[in-house]
Amino acid sequence: MTHDSTQPTRIEFDPDGVAIEPRPGETLLESAHRAKVRIASACGGRGICKSCIIHFTGGETPPPSPSDRDFFSAVKLERGWRRACQCSVSGSSRVHIPARARAESTRMQVDGSDFWVQPEPIVASIEVKLTKPSLNYPEADFERLVEALNQEREPTTWSIDPEAARNLPEVLRQNNWAVQAVVRNDEIIAVQPVKTRLVGLAVDLGTTNIGLFLADLHSGTTIASTGIENPQGIYGSDVVSRVGAAATDADKAIQMQRLVIDAINQRVQGMCDAHNLTPWQIVDVVVAGNTAMHHIFARLQVRGLGLAPFTPVITGPLQIKTRELGLACAPGAQIHMVPNIAGFVGGDHTAMLIGISAHTEKRTVIALDIGTNTEISLLHNGAITSLSCPSGPALEGGHISCGMRAAAGAIESVKINGEDLEIKTIGDAEPIGLCGSGVLDVTAAFFLSGGLNPRGQINREYRHTVLQDDEPVFMLHQGETNVVFTQRDVRSVQLAKGSIRAGIELLLEHAGLHYEQLDKVVVAGAFGNYISIESACTIGLLPPLPLDRFEQIGNAAGTGAKLILLSKTLRDTATNLAARSTHLVQAGNPRFNKHFMHTINFHDIN
Ligand code: FES
Repeated sequence: MTHDSTQPTRIEFDPDGVAIEPRPGETLLESAHRAKVRIASACGGRGICKSCIIHFTGGETPPPSPSDRDFFSAVKLERGWRRACQCSVSGSSRVHIPARARAESTRMQVDGSDFWVQPEPIVASIEVKLTKPSLNYPEADFERLVEALNQEREPTTWSIDPEAARNLPEVLRQNNWAVQAVVRNDEIIAVQPVKTRLVGLAVDLGTTNIGLFLADLHSGTTIASTGIENPQGIYGSDVVSRVGAAATDADKAIQMQRLVIDAINQRVQGMCDAHNLTPWQIVDVVVAGNTAMHHIFARLQVRGLGLAPFTPVITGPLQIKTRELGLACAPGAQIHMVPNIAGFVGGDHTAMLIGISAHTEKRTVIALDIGTNTEISLLHNGAITSLSCPSGPALEGGHISCGMRAAAGAIESVKINGEDLEIKTIGDAEPIGLCGSGVLDVTAAFFLSGGLNPRGQINREYRHTVLQDDEPVFMLHQGETNVVFTQRDVRSVQLAKGSIRAGIELLLEHAGLHYEQLDKVVVAGAFGNYISIESACTIGLLPPLPLDRFEQIGNAAGTGAKLILLSKTLRDTATNLAARSTHLVQAGNPRFNKHFMHTINFHDIN
């Protein structure tokens, strides 16, 4: 169909019912994001994944790109299937976005283990009553505030945050000269009505999800917690894509930072509204993220993280005024960025170590947080050794042919019972794809029942194997949306699990240990909380230990971030832990490569 130039060009997105005029040169994925229409984009639009598949159902269908010609069968191309990041339209079109590409995660693991810590915040409030100004006492407002503070406390040379100073005259006069000064060391960061509740915000800044916790800094109670998707997902689901985008385009780096700040501001405002608070009551903020998220959030250059030897700008703690980054809080509130350990072992891992009390741990423990980049620590004889290994998005359902986020309809567990395949989906909905825990289960179940050989090759004779474009695939579900698991998917899982297990083996080897000497394996993080440990051991991702030696603890990084917010002592402990952790370099390490070659297949390591 040709385009009528007298009519405005429009793309209509189904089933959202949203339409937008495309801009010249813009990909359909970019148009959709501009229209706030959700299309998954695991690789950030680089054309190397399968998450942005769409279907042209009316109007102009653009010609397929060369990479889409390789990607889709001739029949699918003919029927109008394309990838949104690989096509642009110049005429009006109607586009259907399949459920898999629209799915939003339902697994926002926010909370970790329960904890209690003696509140010992870094900020304090001091109630003061000021003398009113008069002709006999015409001192400046700030000087009178200092005089009142010095009557309450040991005389100090106080300074005041400029923004707090701007608000000072109004607050003093509106409150009849009786106020509370919020101080951080010897700086006055806010002046408020007396008895204003002091609130802190802890942020677990993940690549996929962001956990937010509002806490009362005096009582230590959690006022509210919630999880949101990291809106930077449009730039790719893994840190490599994000670093690549931010390093090569300064505007993208700014946009990515703004996206996160806006999302946090919006959600925090909602949390405050629900608890009769205002964001200006937030007087302290702690942010724990992996090194890439940390750098993008703090507006640091990420170029060093994209190239060997993967050098961060800073590993130690970093304090930034909230307003400098656009976070809506009390005038002089600061953000404490939890220190990173190394290039790809970030502040989220440091927070996780606090969340599992690594500083008091006497046992020999492996603690890992599985993600697109898996961070692992070995705690042994009081020492902490850490490393990170690239594990890609396969274990989160990304870059898998029918992979999707953990949303309704995602296959989350699979068992083979005799001849039958037993599938469980999230929300017991019709299967439309596979999420991370399903990916692990499928691999383990087919390996155990003879569908995969130890080298990971799909058995063509296996009862659940079918041929698709002459290639053997496992058929998991036939229906409106077929769900298959391909040879390439198996390879992606092998690469991911081989890398993680090689990381564990490298840490053990470095300490002269065998996995049987481990007292505990702690699996942290949202993904780790939902996986079957049995399946993870079956495919060799985790060492084959008795199940009671494993502990799935949920969001330990979020727990750690809250503890660091509430306790000055634990804030110092986190800084010390990060500084004294030994970092093993995985990239280019021949020992890692040797372990990887050994762990990539599906047999036990003895
Ligand atoms: S191929 Fe389009 S986002 Fe990955």
